[in-house]
Amino acid sequence: MEAETKANGLEIAPATGKLGVLLVGLGAVSTTLVAGVEAIRRGISQPVGSLTQMGTIRLGKRTDNNVPRIKDFVPLASLEDVVFGAWDIFPDNAFEAAKKAGVLEKDLLEQVSEPLASLKPMPAVFEQSYVKRLHGENVKTGKNKMELAEQLIEDIARFKSANGCDRVVMVWAASTEVYLEASGCHLTTEAFEQALYDSDPAIAPSMIYAYAAIKSGVPFANGAPNLTADIPALTKLAEANGVPICGKDFKTGQTLMKTILAPGLKSRMLGLDGWYSTNILGNRDGEVLDDPESFKTKEESKLSVLEHILQPEVYPDLYEGFSHVVRINYYPPRGDNKEGWDNIDIFGWLGYKMQIKIDFLCRDSILAAPLALDLALFLDLAQRAGMRGIQEWLSFYFKAPQTAPGLYPEHDLFIQLMKLKNTLRHMMGEDLITHLGLEYYD
Ligand SMILES: NC(=O)c1ccc[n+]([C@@H]2O[C@H](COP(=O)([O-])OP(=O)(O)OC[C@H]3O[C@@H](n4cnc5c(N)ncnc54)[C@H](O)[C@@H]3O)[C@@H](O)[C@H]2O)c1
Repeated sequence: MEAETKANGLEIAPATGKLGVLLVGLGAVSTTLVAGVEAIRRGISQPVGSLTQMGTIRLGKRTDNNVPRIKDFVPLASLEDVVFGAWDIFPDNAFEAAKKAGVLEKDLLEQVSEPLASLKPMPAVFEQSYVKRLHGENVKTGKNKMELAEQLIEDIARFKSANGCDRVVMVWAASTEVYLEASGCHLTTEAFEQALYDSDPAIAPSMIYAYAAIKSGVPFANGAPNLTADIPALTKLAEANGVPICGKDFKTGQTLMKTILAPGLKSRMLGLDGWYSTNILGNRDGEVLDDPESFKTKEESKLSVLEHILQPEVYPDLYEGFSHVVRINYYPPRGDNKEGWDNIDIFGWLGYKMQIKIDFLCRDSILAAPLALDLALFLDLAQRAGMRGIQEWLSFYFKAPQTAPGLYPEHDLFIQLMKLKNTLRHMMGEDLITHLGLEYYD
């Protein structure tokens, strides 16, 4: 049977009223998202790159010819009902910030200048030691980190009532923080809350936002590689409070290519001697990542994908000891238009060596903005469907997907997509699709 497991649909509350999307960080990705949604609402552009807006999903057998758009199949919030809010350490409104980010052309920005100019960031929770290259003034003060969390909780409530929102989700699209490993105060909610009162340096600003979101019943997605909500204290709190969360690190340029190509090489049993990746990048993200401690956070996230996809422990003859190097070079003239080079040394039949070269002239925020949109809409859907805690089905969007403890992440983009679509079928009580398809030959 190709369409096999009959699932029970979940009870999903309808997407009535407005959905508030709170963005932490009003930089290149966030302003490209907001300007894009405004342009799409006005019919100026198409939502290219967004699975929720353009993707389809097959239901039933191939012969049924039933392939609705995802947004017509699951009850997602409409773009008309989305309202944006943000925090940033710089006071620039979204129009000024978008101009500075230099991603979108002036012409397009002028056409959506009004809603952009009216989006002014709330003062941020920020500490210099976690993002060493940035200095901003639009920052909250408080006697300890718990007080800062309480201020964020008030911001969320104020935003929700001022904009008449029915529901709110939060997406971290702020700078990459320095590398942190989970430690004692990250293990339980009680220890985490005590550490907030103690202003423990192990509590990064991103964790304070995630805590405030979860305490407010607001789903949280982490678009950066920071540890943030990937700690037991917060995953448990999310489960207890019925809040869906996901992360980490939007899977956009080079890593997207890796998770497209590596499963293909492995499926053909082609070996790998090494994969060298380097980037030049000139935006503020590039500047932040020029700091070795922020780079380490990013490097960990970027390095993990190949090991998991290629499984050298299962295929030692093909993949044991392959060399994997990732570099990011801050090069201001390029702005947001990153160039990513990959040199891939592979081998085939009888060990004969071959090379693949990729030169991806990409646009970072153009690739990331639709992911942030999809995550906001899918997290809101998940919450209305009663799904709580880590949402592994959203791994499709991340370089370092959050998973249940002890479970290795699934990095293969095509498995991730199948998982995502089967989750949507499961939510709606449709048959899951296994691609077995023997019934066509009975
Ligand atoms: N393709 C992509 O663009 C891509 C892919 C994966 C991950 N990311 C991550 O997404 C994040 C955003 O990328 P970007 O290109 O928009 O960067 P950006 O530097 O243009 O924007 C980040 C914004 O966050 C603000 N900020 C920093 N710390 C903050 C805090 N504690 N609270 C509120 N605001 C804060 C900064 O002032 C800045 O305006 C980065 O962490 C980046 O690594 C981006």
